[in-house]
Amino acid sequence: MTPSAPGTSEPLVLGIETSCDETGVGIVQGHTLLADSVASSVAEHARFGGVIPEVASRAHLEAMVPTIERACRTAGVALDDIDALAVTAGPGLAGALLVGVAAAKSLALGLDKPLYGVHHLAAHVAVDQLEHGALPEPCVAMLVSGGHSSLLRVGDVTDDVDPLGSTIDDAAGEAFDKVARLLGLPFPGGPYIDRAAAAGSAVAIDFPRGLSSRRDLERHRFDFSFSGLKTAVARWVQAQEQSGQPVPVADVAASFQEAVCDVLSRKAVDAAAAEGMEDLLIGGGVAANSRLRVLTEERAAARGIRVRVPRPALCTDNGAMVAALGSEMVARGRAPSSLDLPADSSMPVDHVLAV
Ligand code: KG4
Ligand code: ZN
Repeated sequence: MTPSAPGTSEPLVLGIETSCDETGVGIVQGHTLLADSVASSVAEHARFGGVIPEVASRAHLEAMVPTIERACRTAGVALDDIDALAVTAGPGLAGALLVGVAAAKSLALGLDKPLYGVHHLAAHVAVDQLEHGALPEPCVAMLVSGGHSSLLRVGDVTDDVDPLGSTIDDAAGEAFDKVARLLGLPFPGGPYIDRAAAAGSAVAIDFPRGLSSRRDLERHRFDFSFSGLKTAVARWVQAQEQSGQPVPVADVAASFQEAVCDVLSRKAVDAAAAEGMEDLLIGGGVAANSRLRVLTEERAAARGIRVRVPRPALCTDNGAMVAALGSEMVARGRAPSSLDLPADSSMPVDHVLAV
């Protein structure tokens, strides 16, 4: 793949993502994906059952240059061809973010090209345009991963994103990972629970649906809570073991997955309907869950709402999503960030672009 001749095509944008355990470098041109190179340190965290920040930062340092080189090779471009750079400025692990931001600043300085420091969640939204074309704006987006579970109202992905709700404790993916661990399944647990659930019954065990009672809905209509569910699963498994009975892994996985997907799909569709939206976009690693996709599509269709979900490789953290948002920043004429932009581990989502 080679870009068209200079001056006749849309700008080439290189995006860097290092907010968690994936070193991602993507290259896009307009809505076209040219390269999406990802080096993951997930295997180094597996024995701890969760991401260790210091280990992630070091892995980013080691992977950064080779991943940039791989992305350029795949796209068939030289660094000199890049017209603009984008990087995840936050939120995420502070040390991990710093590696990406420092790399992006060096490239921007060395190549004398504009740099856009962008919000990680807005990038999860923007990535969909690489697969399905121009974003349906306005829309509601649900982003569910190991690090975040959020409902957003997206007026303009480059500067008008409002939080509608988020988790008040564990992220949805974190709940999948913790329950998988309880069941003796590997990390990260989401895909293993998804697979185990296929052989189980979703109604075998009636696990709690967090923040879904009438009283909770008054204050937390679009918020999530998964820590009570995780505890309920732990208690159920413990009681089973204490009574000397085998743990029915497939049934626990299916019933747990149903509890998570029931709440996520219900609240996402409710948010889209309440905001008068015709489109609901889903992203983040948990968007790969088979039951979540089916249930959300079913419920959305009943309300006349369309659902857009990028393919799984674009749902999980990657550099292409950052490049996609950078490309939109350029296309919509946003002013770039300054070269002393900070890495902000708690960057608020209503600031899509770091200054
Ligand atoms: O977006 P992501 O790659 O990284 C961040 O956490 O930001 O998401 C990873 C999360 C993990 O918690 C993983 O267990 C979950 O996404 N996940 C899934 C599935 N595939 C990945 N959860 C449920 N079902 C899946 N099929
Ligand atoms: Zn993410």
